[in-house]
Amino acid sequence: MEKELTGKVALVTGGTKGIGKAIADRLSQAGATVIVTARNHPGDENLKHHFIAADITISSETDKMVWEINEKYGAIDILVNNMGGSSSPSGGFGVLTDKHWENDMQLNLHSAVRIDRAILPQMVEKNSGVIIHVSSITGALPVYESLGAYAVAKAALNNYSKSLAKEFTPKGIRIAAVSPGMVKTDTMDAYLQSLADTTASSIEEVTRNLMNSLGGIPMGRMALPDEIAELVGFLVSPRASYITGVNYIIDGGANPSL
Ligand SMILES: NC(=O)c1ccc[n+]([C@@H]2O[C@H](COP(=O)([O-])OP(=O)(O)OC[C@H]3O[C@@H](n4cnc5c(N)ncnc54)[C@H](OP(=O)(O)O)[C@@H]3O)[C@@H](O)[C@H]2O)c1
Repeated sequence: MEKELTGKVALVTGGTKGIGKAIADRLSQAGATVIVTARNHPGDENLKHHFIAADITISSETDKMVWEINEKYGAIDILVNNMGGSSSPSGGFGVLTDKHWENDMQLNLHSAVRIDRAILPQMVEKNSGVIIHVSSITGALPVYESLGAYAVAKAALNNYSKSLAKEFTPKGIRIAAVSPGMVKTDTMDAYLQSLADTTASSIEEVTRNLMNSLGGIPMGRMALPDEIAELVGFLVSPRASYITGVNYIIDGGANPSL
């Protein structure tokens, strides 16, 4: 792989598992120095990335993490706000409490806003940088039965990402969102298992039902994390120098509209 990111420092939040790990590996293969954050060390003795432990839904831990990055690595060139998810139960609108709404907003919107606020000034100073917000197809295609609050948080993230691009692209910073459909990660597998358990269905049935709730996936399967990482690898590279203010849907054709 061409070392087009040599000399660049990249921060990937949630970079120890799933899509974030694939992105971290992809950026590292392209030559970047990669810092990953998560609450827990992945336990891999041969981890090739720099790891910082922090719960980025908590502002004091985010501040500490940014301080450590500044001390050890200097300014960030590429920021991938990948961490996100949902801790809400399935069952539709009626089962969601204020706490579920707040948690999903923290996980998918506020954590990214907080990190952007800390990192953007350094990028503005250098007049360069790239920020990617990992969103979800549900930001444009709500799945109310199980991911209502998450979908709303991702829709907010999309709007926020666009607004940030409008403001900061003139200052030399490219900002884009990437919206995957269903991706085969351990968390997705666990989620499908919990749906299967609560509905007394098989994994195959709940997988098919979830795919159908998105209107079907013409590709006929979930994405692999590496397929999402490949898109992010392109977007943060100099090859994407005119791309900003967009939301790339990567869902195997599921979204019914353009
Ligand atoms: N998987 C899908 O099908 C899918 C589809 C569309 C969009 N997405 C989006 O893609 C992104 C990654 O999803 P994924 O499925 O790859 O996630 P994942 O496999 O569950 O990994 C989540 C990562 O974030 C870290 N993390 C979780 N909570 C954290 C917190 N409070 N503070 C700091 N780090 C935290 C986890 O490590 P620790 O647990 O150790 O903290 C882990 O490294 C998310 O934004 C998700 O919404 C996923």
